Amino acid sequence: MSPQNTVRNWARLLYFLSQNVTSLIGVVLTTSTAITMIAFWIYDFMLQGPPHPYVGILIFLILPGLFVLGLLLIPLGILLRRKKLRGTGELPIAYPEVDLRVPMVRSGLLFIGIATVLNVLIFTFASYQGVAYMDTTTFCGQTCHTVMQPEFTAYQNSPHARVNCVECHIGPGAGWFVKSKLSGVRQVFAVTFKTYSRPIPSPVKYLRPARETCEQCHWPQRFSGDKFIVKRDYKDDEKNTPETTALVLKIGGRTWQGSVGIHGRHLDEGSRIRYISTDEQRQVIPVVYYTDDKGNTVEYVSTDVKVSKEQLAKSEKRVMDCIDCHNRPTHTFELPESAVDLRISRGLISADLPYIKKKAVELLKADYPDRETAQKKIVEGVTSYYRSIYPDIYNTKRALVEQSAVNVARIYMQNIFPDMKVTWGVHPNNLGHNDFPGCFRCHDGSHTSADGQTISNDCSACHNLLAVQEENPKVLTELGMK
Ligand code: HEC
Ligand code: HEC
Ligand code: HEC
Ligand code: HEC
Ligand code: HEC
Repeated sequence: MSPQNTVRNWARLLYFLSQNVTSLIGVVLTTSTAITMIAFWIYDFMLQGPPHPYVGILIFLILPGLFVLGLLLIPLGILLRRKKLRGTGELPIAYPEVDLRVPMVRSGLLFIGIATVLNVLIFTFASYQGVAYMDTTTFCGQTCHTVMQPEFTAYQNSPHARVNCVECHIGPGAGWFVKSKLSGVRQVFAVTFKTYSRPIPSPVKYLRPARETCEQCHWPQRFSGDKFIVKRDYKDDEKNTPETTALVLKIGGRTWQGSVGIHGRHLDEGSRIRYISTDEQRQVIPVVYYTDDKGNTVEYVSTDVKVSKEQLAKSEKRVMDCIDCHNRPTHTFELPESAVDLRISRGLISADLPYIKKKAVELLKADYPDRETAQKKIVEGVTSYYRSIYPDIYNTKRALVEQSAVNVARIYMQNIFPDMKVTWGVHPNNLGHNDFPGCFRCHDGSHTSADGQTISNDCSACHNLLAVQEENPKVLTELGMK
């Protein structure tokens, strides 16, 4: 058989076999998605900022999927057709031979080669883009809008608003990357079939140990020293009388004396503390194991919480890390009183409006069917209160009333998400002990060792209280901070 004939036969055979709907769909799909993707990439490159979440999913996840599907359909169609033809005996008996000396064979192979390289390039770039896209805050925070809305909103108002979700939730390295993608697949199903829990439960099961994520940016040995904290709150009275609390918090770290203070005593190098909790949210802690400076393990058992030996044996011992105190470093949901105090101290809500603190908290705590109604009712509630009870103030300070009303409603919008059952206090904050048990889950004076020592609960172990809710604290005047 002459070389020309071989080529012709081969080409004919392939042409013949590829004349099937499946392969043709494949060709059309691959070519059109490749062109669309390249066009979108150029568009995305010229666009400022991240694309809209749904556009992102289309460009970075759906199109590459279709592209690969198209590529797979081409050989699949050929195979299916061959099988069918074999069944009916319509296939040629001898396959033509390939001869590289023939120019047409060479150019044919060249074409297939170039197409393959192009496809591999497009595929590689698309996978890279897809993975990078899945790591963006837009994808994590905004794609499943309702589901992530509470965490995303709180995150945007936090010190970590510029840190990507994946920095804390996945961290560096391939192992956790793969784990997170597998759990991501589960989450996609949960969202599709709406089987996710409301609210999204916390603690996050299988969250990577905080020391491998937070410590990319912070480290506990760094000496933070004593931190001077001044907080202002406002009474429920007509004048919204301000009160000041001032304390020096002993954060500590590593010093010439060794590891001191809050950071130094719990973490330093490695972990000294493990504990068992009896509830999902880790709020009840019956036993704490502490490795003291000599390397001995001290077991502190709570005299308040009763648990059986079997239950203890069953429970998992958790190694204490950053998250056991900083469980809300970025999804910091507020409580109504302190949220209003903060806005008043920043001048967003005006302290010149009589009873504004009381009224604002009352409106925030009321029940509303949904967020839109809440926003409307809260704004109306504040303005109508002053219009009817304090008409003089309403008339002379109307701008202040309106601005305050909007900012009260904003507190609601930043913290309450009825669709996800996120309401006041559903996510406890462990940093402190006034609103939630926090530090007092262990430092309550009831956790006792075999030799009768308790985990310290002396007020001055953690802070020096310089003033507690005083109207004119002397210490601030002395420091020239009035
Ligand atoms: C500074 C680190 C950090 C960043 C950045 C971060 N998270 Fe979190 N996230 C946490 C911690 C810590 C928890 C609570 C873990 C626990 O208690 O086990 C959490 C919990 C969650 C939860 C579970 C519900 C809850 O409120 O506890 C969701 C959902 C979540 N994060 C989504 C996100 C999304 C979406 C982003 C990006 C928009 C993001 N996170 C960014 C640290 C972070
Ligand atoms: C990618 C870097 C990065 C990671 C990872 C990170 N943080 Fe931060 N964190 C920051 C930056 C930057 C700030 C300072 C923000 C500012 O002052 O505006 C900050 C601030 C803080 C603060 C002080 C907040 C305040 O009120 O001033 C705490 C507490 C904190 N981070 C805890 C954590 C914890 C806990 C984790 C792990 C769950 C974590 N961070 C992970 C970068 C990071
Ligand atoms: C035993 C509880 C506890 C643990 C564990 C803990 N912290 Fe803290 N941390 C605190 C307290 C309390 C503060 C002071 C909070 C404040 O400023 O109101 C603080 C403050 C900070 C600050 C702000 C420091 C400053 O100068 O303002 C950073 C950053 C921080 N912690 C990071 C971490 C990281 C990262 C870890 C884990 C390696 C960690 N913390 C573990 C209790 C803890
Ligand atoms: C899981 C239990 C647990 C939690 C939660 C916890 N601690 Fe501790 N803490 C301990 C243990 C155990 C010790 C070591 C025993 C001791 O010094 O009394 C300790 C020691 C300390 C010390 C050193 C006391 C001293 O006398 O040297 C300080 C300060 C401290 N913790 C602050 C805090 C703060 C602040 C929080 C909350 C943000 C907190 N702890 C939360 C278990 C805990
Ligand atoms: C285990 C450490 C620890 C112990 C013991 C402790 N506190 Fe605190 N306390 C804290 C932390 C942490 C904060 C939070 C500081 C902040 O808001 O950043 C706090 C905050 C406060 C505040 C300020 C409240 C506010 O508005 O935030 C007061 C008041 C207070 N503590 C009183 C006490 C008293 C009284 C005792 C003794 C019975 C005590 N504390 C024992 C850790 C401790």
